[in-house]
Amino acid sequence: MAYKPSTIAIHNGLNEDQQFGCVVPPIYLSSTYNFTDFNQPRVHDYSRRGNPGRDIVQKTLAQLEGGSGAVMTNSGMSALHLLCTVFLQPGDLLVAPHDCYGGSYRLFNSQSQRGAYQVQFVDQSDESALQKALDKKPKLVLIETPSNPLLRIFDIQHIAHLAHEAGALVVVDNTFLSPILQQPLSLGADFVVHSCTKYLNGHSDIVAGVVIAKDEKWAIELAWWANNIGVTGGAFDSYLLLRGIRTLSPRILQQQRNTQEIVKYLKSQTLVKKLYYPELEDHPGHQIALKQQKGFGAMLSFEFAGDELQLRRFLSALSLFTLAESLGGVETLISHTATMTHAGMSAEARAQAGITDSLLRISVGIEDPQDLITDLEQAFQVAAQR
Ligand SMILES: Cc1ncc(COP(=O)(O)O)c(C=O)c1O
Repeated sequence: MAYKPSTIAIHNGLNEDQQFGCVVPPIYLSSTYNFTDFNQPRVHDYSRRGNPGRDIVQKTLAQLEGGSGAVMTNSGMSALHLLCTVFLQPGDLLVAPHDCYGGSYRLFNSQSQRGAYQVQFVDQSDESALQKALDKKPKLVLIETPSNPLLRIFDIQHIAHLAHEAGALVVVDNTFLSPILQQPLSLGADFVVHSCTKYLNGHSDIVAGVVIAKDEKWAIELAWWANNIGVTGGAFDSYLLLRGIRTLSPRILQQQRNTQEIVKYLKSQTLVKKLYYPELEDHPGHQIALKQQKGFGAMLSFEFAGDELQLRRFLSALSLFTLAESLGGVETLISHTATMTHAGMSAEARAQAGITDSLLRISVGIEDPQDLITDLEQAFQVAAQR
């Protein structure tokens, strides 16, 4: 049988340069392209519409997720905004998770307040609440699994089936796992969205997003609108994103191994009240995660058991865990959800989503896991001092 390389090995644009034989595809910074003659444009005419580097990264992302086309955007938010712009008109309903990323929540809420479309936030694990929302015939259903920040797991195949029966299109935000650990299109989704700022780029040095479509006709429509409203990704970011994707698999697998070590350690800590990680057998989504994911990922969160002063002492004693928003980079980050990533939600909305003021979220990096555990150990000791 002929050797079949992995998808990452074959679709990353390497060795495609005919002129100089560059192994790595070059960056084309030109914003405009000359016409060969009157009314004779080349493949590209203007970089907002198309750029050779962005073409490669879009093809790579589409193939990694098993889609027919992809549009790289200048942020994860603009990827979501693009989808809503294309598929929702005033009066149309979007069904979104009640505990989605705070920025997504703010976008849908503010757009619905100005009449762009309607939104209903639903606990998608509550079958009857979900069915009630689907009975209103939404045009679009967004699934975010694992959810941010509580790592709730939703059954993509099941929700996609129900949503399709109701006549809706289904989008999955796959930012938390990447196509290495979960491929929503194969589970019935119509679109996948990523904040490429996270695992796909992996080095916390760009902000970018992508929409990947299962159906080619949607990919073409999304590309037209992305150019029309001007949300496409830039040339330099395309280059960095493609470079990041080349190491996606080893990065995320190492990050996942480190997370498993840290979870083992946190389980026995007195200042840890509740631990959220889908590998834990008492995690309500454990069985679904086993079925639909190829791994449990590298994000975890936990309720800190001390008071606010202790929490502050714990955070400032950490040295390898940077107090910062975002996730998915090679460095470990810790965030206080209520004042950082989910500050865009009202206190009531956070409470409804189960996000408390003592919740901490960790994006585990590729450092030596023992160094990370030693750092946690000394920070817990500082926090525990009276
Ligand atoms: C799950 C999820 N989706 C979307 C976004 C938005 O992406 P960006 O920050 O690239 O605009 C984020 C950002 O944190 C996220 O965590």
